[in-house]
Amino acid sequence: MFAVCAVTLLCLMSVSHSAPMVCEELTHALDQQEPHHFEGKWSLVAGSLNHLPSMEALRLRDSITMYFSNSSEASTISYTQVNRFGDQCQYLHYNVSVQSSSFTFDVGNRFELVGSFLYTSCPDCLVMWWNVTSPRRQSKDLYLLSRRREVEQKDLEEFRAQLKCSQLPEPVVMDSTKELCPELPESRPTAAQIEETSVEEKP
Ligand SMILES: *[C@@H]1O[C@H](CO)[C@@H](O)[C@H](O)[C@H]1NC(C)=O
Ligand SMILES: *[C@@H]1O[C@H](CO)[C@@H](O)[C@H](O)[C@H]1NC(C)=O
Ligand SMILES: *[C@@H]1O[C@H](CO)[C@@H](O)[C@H](O)[C@H]1NC(C)=O
Repeated sequence: MFAVCAVTLLCLMSVSHSAPMVCEELTHALDQQEPHHFEGKWSLVAGSLNHLPSMEALRLRDSITMYFSNSSEASTISYTQVNRFGDQCQYLHYNVSVQSSSFTFDVGNRFELVGSFLYTSCPDCLVMWWNVTSPRRQSKDLYLLSRRREVEQKDLEEFRAQLKCSQLPEPVVMDSTKELCPELPESRPTAAQIEETSVEEKP
């Protein structure tokens, strides 16, 4: 393809003509749901949302780990998010019901969180889109998750292009040198205390 393009101007024209297609592809919700693909542990690499206070809240986290796991029912998965703030770890658990190309977090009527996975060319990444609706917040969020702590520059560039297509601001890029929290809380009172008081419309 490249060799052919290199010798023909026509090809260049077709590339520029296809440019509007790019956003369509980049923001296309994947028709899943192949559970194996997203099962297991992911770390948040970057994220952006069009709600400033939540963006600032994201900036305050040292690291975020996300776990998707099977439940006995095929249409349900469980989602655990572990946020690190300094030496404290916050554990959030949700049941998520999976539809053909979207998923809905069960957050007990406190707010609405519908999401889906979007296209990514990075082989060990997920790009996750969330639509959060609550009395205090209506936001569109895009998160880049990976099995790795850090991704290639081109993967981050692709994510930035996705943000641009979605009219979202420059992402918060997580510091990959900050430790992830353990998957399960250590039995320290501080961790439990944080868990109990976490009723925000976050992840
Ligand atoms: C998750 O579910 C799939 C079938 O949907 C199964 O093959 C796989 O082994 C399950 N994984 C775990 C960890 O239970
Ligand atoms: C998830 O669903 C299971 C089974 O219905 C339930 O036992 C569990 O309490 C739920 N977890 C949350 C965090 O809602
Ligand atoms: C987000 O959710 C709200 C409320 O459910 C809905 O009105 C809105 O159309 C959704 N936005 C997108 C982009 O799906």
